[in-house]
Amino acid sequence: MQAVRIARFGDPSGMTLVDVPAPEAGPGQLVVAAEAIGVGGVDAVIRRGTLSGYGFTEGLVPGSEVAGTVTQVGNDVDPAWVGRRVWAFTGTGGAYVEQALARVGDVVELPEELSAVDAVTLGSAAPVAHFALDHARFTPGQSVLVRGAAGSIGIATVELASRAGASAVAVTTSSPARGQRLRALGATHVLDRGGDGDGTAPESYDVIVDVVGGAGVPAFIDRLAPNGRMVVVGAVAGMPPEDFGMRLLRSFQQSRSFATFSLDTVPTATRDGVRAELFAGATRGELHAVVHDVLPLSAAAEAHRQMDAGTVFGRIVLVP
Ligand SMILES: NC(=O)c1ccc[n+]([C@@H]2O[C@H](COP(=O)([O-])OP(=O)(O)OC[C@H]3O[C@@H](n4cnc5c(N)ncnc54)[C@H](OP(=O)(O)O)[C@@H]3O)[C@@H](O)[C@H]2O)c1
Repeated sequence: MQAVRIARFGDPSGMTLVDVPAPEAGPGQLVVAAEAIGVGGVDAVIRRGTLSGYGFTEGLVPGSEVAGTVTQVGNDVDPAWVGRRVWAFTGTGGAYVEQALARVGDVVELPEELSAVDAVTLGSAAPVAHFALDHARFTPGQSVLVRGAAGSIGIATVELASRAGASAVAVTTSSPARGQRLRALGATHVLDRGGDGDGTAPESYDVIVDVVGGAGVPAFIDRLAPNGRMVVVGAVAGMPPEDFGMRLLRSFQQSRSFATFSLDTVPTATRDGVRAELFAGATRGELHAVVHDVLPLSAAAEAHRQMDAGTVFGRIVLVP
């Protein structure tokens, strides 16, 4: 089968299309014939080599989510899975392939009405948004700021907070055109990346969901209302300064909180149940899969060029 490897960390030219043996499902595993493969922000971070200290090595196959049909199961897995349309998490790699291997606990059956392309746009991002709002103890009537709202996680956070009755949903984004698109999805205020640009926006927020991280974290801690909670779910701009926690301590009397959130800490059954609910919500039009482009698997490097250029709104999907 065909697969995309990162032969060399760095720019997307280090990605190559290769022929590799098709996988065999081992115990607890199944094989999914991919119809759609999500290109996540973290794939580009891994490709750049930024995470090589975390065990990622050259030669890896990137990607973490596919949707398609189960073609094979391990000998201890219920054979009824074969033929079902599913969304599957493949781990921190292994998805840019024609046939993907996944653990049975990382697979969710798709509603008939949901396309594979929409499933990989929402499958990972929407649960992150859902649980991040939950982790931040968001309740209806509270104000929310989504930092880095133009990616799949940010878009889902905007839609979920808006539908759940947030008093305001402010977003940071790099252009007015993106801001318009985010307004159509439920944003009430559009800020630039620095958090400025809308004089009518709230001065402080009960909840900040941050996909960006990086040097801007301390300045956004200052935007938390008394008892406000900031949850970092991604770090597309890198790590915050090591002393960022001083901002919390200096505003001691505001009782602010800072947290990280990773889906890895949510029990599998809870995560899969919420994912299935969110997929069902998408078929009812409550949540929108914003697909930037659909490209062939062989164009994975082009997808990453677009990611690096910052032109992607939502998610690029690859099809084998
Ligand atoms: N917590 C979890 O369980 C979990 C699960 C999956 C992924 N993740 C993490 O989520 C992140 C990817 O999320 P995503 O795919 O939604 O994001 P993304 O599409 O890669 O980026 C989101 C937005 O951030 C803005 N941005 C990019 N670089 C920036 C910079 N240097 N400074 C300020 N803004 C910048 C861009 O919008 P504008 O140009 O409009 O500003 C971009 O569209 C990764 O860090 C990944 O590791 C976390």
